[in-house]
Amino acid sequence: MREPYIMESDDEETRLEIKTARSVVEEFAIRAGLGPGMRVVDAGCGPGITTSTLGGIAGPAGSALGFDLSEKRIQRAKAGYEDERTRFVVRDFRESLEGLGRFDFAWVRFALEYYKAECFDITRNIAELLEEGGILCLVDLDHNCLNHHGMSPRLEGALAAAMRQLEAKANFDPYAGRKLYSHLYTMGFRDITVAAGAHHLIYGELREADEYNWGKKLEVLSQKLKINLPGYAGPEEFREDFMTFFRNPGRFTYTPVIAAWGRKPPRS
Ligand SMILES: C[S@@+](CC[C@H](N)C(=O)[O-])C[C@H]1O[C@@H](n2cnc3c(N)ncnc32)[C@H](O)[C@@H]1O
Repeated sequence: MREPYIMESDDEETRLEIKTARSVVEEFAIRAGLGPGMRVVDAGCGPGITTSTLGGIAGPAGSALGFDLSEKRIQRAKAGYEDERTRFVVRDFRESLEGLGRFDFAWVRFALEYYKAECFDITRNIAELLEEGGILCLVDLDHNCLNHHGMSPRLEGALAAAMRQLEAKANFDPYAGRKLYSHLYTMGFRDITVAAGAHHLIYGELREADEYNWGKKLEVLSQKLKINLPGYAGPEEFREDFMTFFRNPGRFTYTPVIAAWGRKPPRS
């Protein structure tokens, strides 16, 4: 059976740690209303760096719980960040989350994009963890990996074809970001706010972290999925061509990141 998380690999904890900027997490979380004394839950928390950042904002009077499907990621999170106010557990957000506790703030970042078919049901399931009036903050990418200037038509065509196949074969959603508002609206959330920014804003010399992150993505996906890349003999040739484009300081790349948050309504 196909793994539900297509980026699963031996290096996934390291990839997530390298690419996570605490300041970006802090900015969105504080704008969404996370503050001292709150109980925060981080769904699909990865190796724990985001949970520890959110817990830092909640402060000594608050608490943070991170959960993730991956045992390995939770082990890394416990080793790196667990303390009396910051805990980690293995759980699957497609299943009942009963027993995890009640929370004032729930954070879901870069997780719904892996579940095109189930994204609304997952959001509703996570919302169950909130107290009435609690804040749900959803953060995801839109038009994911598809915004570049300076690519050859061959590379651009193959990349677009690859993303279409990831959607069809692997339940991946390159348009997860634009759906976040409607998840909150459909659930009747109050005071909904949406913010948009640029993620992967890449121009000039390529940073080591971006080279590692994008190189890893292509490596993991090409090993796992049989993707047809029109104009290329195979994934190796495509990867080399992409990385040549990507290392060129004259290229421009960005991905829109959307954050949507709102307050859980009282039960009717
Ligand atoms: C791209 S990472 C994002 C990690 C973190 N939220 C961040 O913003 O850096 C997606 C995470 O979701 C986790 N995940 C995937 N499917 C899951 C599921 N069904 N239940 C819980 N976590 C899941 C993965 O194991 C991975 O750690």
